[in-house]
Amino acid sequence: MNNTLVAQNIEKYYSGKEKVLHQVSITIRSGESVGLIGESGCGKSTLARCLLLTQNIDSGSIVYQGTPVRATDRSSFKKYKGSIQAVFQNPTAALNPRIHLLNSLMEPLDHLNRRGWFYIKKNQHQRKEVAAQLLELVGLGPDLMNRYPHELSGGQKQRLCIARAISVEPNLIIMDEPTSNLDALIQSEILDLLRALQKRLDFSYLFISHDLPVVQQMCDRILVMRKGQIVDEYMKEELFDTMRHPYTQQLAKWYD
Ligand SMILES: Nc1ncnc2c1ncn2[C@@H]1O[C@H](COP(=O)(O)OP(=O)(O)OP(=O)(O)O)[C@@H](O)[C@H]1O
Ligand SMILES: [Mg+2]
Repeated sequence: MNNTLVAQNIEKYYSGKEKVLHQVSITIRSGESVGLIGESGCGKSTLARCLLLTQNIDSGSIVYQGTPVRATDRSSFKKYKGSIQAVFQNPTAALNPRIHLLNSLMEPLDHLNRRGWFYIKKNQHQRKEVAAQLLELVGLGPDLMNRYPHELSGGQKQRLCIARAISVEPNLIIMDEPTSNLDALIQSEILDLLRALQKRLDFSYLFISHDLPVVQQMCDRILVMRKGQIVDEYMKEELFDTMRHPYTQQLAKWYD
């Protein structure tokens, strides 16, 4: 398996706060599903934002497909940003309430198109055809593209955010608690959808959650974070091994 992303010794401080990330290293290989679990406030979302380059890191390195990624190096930065997508916990916050869902859905493709990286003619017919195909992939009907976010359920909005994330055929999707706001039935439908899409489209993902059963279901390899440090890493079938870190054992006790 090739390494898609290698992040090493990532450190992050927020002004006036103690260090939030301590020497965090994470490798995600091509096609892999990696979990990140840890209690609230341990730094999971901070790490997600650092990996997505929406937040600067204080030290450490990110290497993508063998090339170091730096905000100052436009070419590596653009290549990386074009290959990585995100799905967040709150789909309502991720969608602009004032624009039609068609435009929200097509935002990443329109962006690439504007940059001339990707060729989709901007005529409305072809654009709507692409949008309908994306919606179909996530189990939504084409009529939804003409609505506004408030006209969708939470589950439908999250499906739309997933369609938007897969639209650019990313190599890696960072999923930060993507189902935590949803009720149990819808959560399980969305998790099934994500697994099915991964099989079909072959992207890697980093699945972040505080919910161990969900991470066990969704991921092959799992990293355990505590107070900004990765304290354990295991293949999912190794959860109950005696060599697990005491914190992982504590999490597993609840799960057993
Ligand atoms: N923008 C920010 N400015 C200052 N402090 C922040 C900022 N974002 C997060 N923090 C702090 O950094 C720490 C880690 O927060 P983070 O959101 O990364 O945790 P988390 O593991 O994602 O938690 P949760 O499971 O509740 O989402 C917390 O103490 C939080 O208060
Ligand atoms: Mg978080």
